[in-house]
Amino acid sequence: MNLAELNKVAQAMVAPGRGILAADESSGTIKKRFDAIGVESTEDNRRDYREMLFRSAEGMKNISGVILYDETIWQKAKDGTPLVDIIKKAGAIPGIKVDEGTKPLPNCPGEVVTIGLDKLADRLPKYYEQGARFAKWRGVIDIGAHIPSHTCIYANAHALARYAALCQAAQIVPIVEPEVLMDGDHDIDTCVRVTEWVLKETFQQLYYQRVALEGMVLKPNMAISGKKNGKRAGVEEVAEKTVKLLRACVPAAVPGIAFLSGGQSDEEATAHLDAMNKIGGLPWHLTFSYGRALQHAPQTTWKGRPENVAAAQRAFSHRAKMNGLAALGQWKADLEKKAA
Ligand code: 13P
Repeated sequence: MNLAELNKVAQAMVAPGRGILAADESSGTIKKRFDAIGVESTEDNRRDYREMLFRSAEGMKNISGVILYDETIWQKAKDGTPLVDIIKKAGAIPGIKVDEGTKPLPNCPGEVVTIGLDKLADRLPKYYEQGARFAKWRGVIDIGAHIPSHTCIYANAHALARYAALCQAAQIVPIVEPEVLMDGDHDIDTCVRVTEWVLKETFQQLYYQRVALEGMVLKPNMAISGKKNGKRAGVEEVAEKTVKLLRACVPAAVPGIAFLSGGQSDEEATAHLDAMNKIGGLPWHLTFSYGRALQHAPQTTWKGRPENVAAAQRAFSHRAKMNGLAALGQWKADLEKKAA
């Protein structure tokens, strides 16, 4: 492993004012997104949609890296150019989602564990050869009446650490993503408590697997109220509690933290990131690795119609720019109104 090189890639992924586009929806998830806009989920439509994002010159200015799904990393654009070459030409780093989704965790009703470790050591060099310099693996922790269990947190943290060690051995920067879902009706302090437990266990397992923290990026959820909570915490509270939590759990050796959006509205995700960066004085770069919060606007503008491509690219560029400003703590709410 060349740690200096891994660290260089990790630093580039979280460079000031830039963040990651998570375009790695599995076939099932992208079908759901396409169903919502009335587009059939064919291989060509998925390619056309993603090509449209990667060819958005303005939007890609604020994108440091793109997480791809297995299908996409091998795909060619309409004119025959490999999609990874379009991403590289735009100045971004191609990355690859390598987990294989979740399965029910035995003896733990309602909980899941992420799978995909078995052939990972064989798959990684092929992705590297295809241009991937970082990877992603997502562990999922749900909050409910009697969950999460320690069994679930431990199993997912262990898998994340095994994945991260395998990535570094293959000279690929691991994005370590332990996601505490915001689907429930829990309050922000419950989210803080569970996320603290999850992050502590994750870094313990990373240590046991001898993962070099300088060569990874953390992708956590924010400390946030559940979506069904009637009295959701405001922007300042989310920012303060998230920063306090991360300071307590994430070693300063980690180059950067790139949040998932997790079902927040586009503007919420931007405002939260901005408020955290306005606090300042943090040991790591704080940026975005958004899927929905970057893609919802372009998807609903595009609707699968070629005549909407330019407008959809503008919608994507706007969100990328707003989040780029938020990564610097320089976003203002009225910039959103001006664009509308
Ligand atoms: P969201 O930003 O839509 O949560 O997606 C990020 C991601 O990569 C989830 O694994």
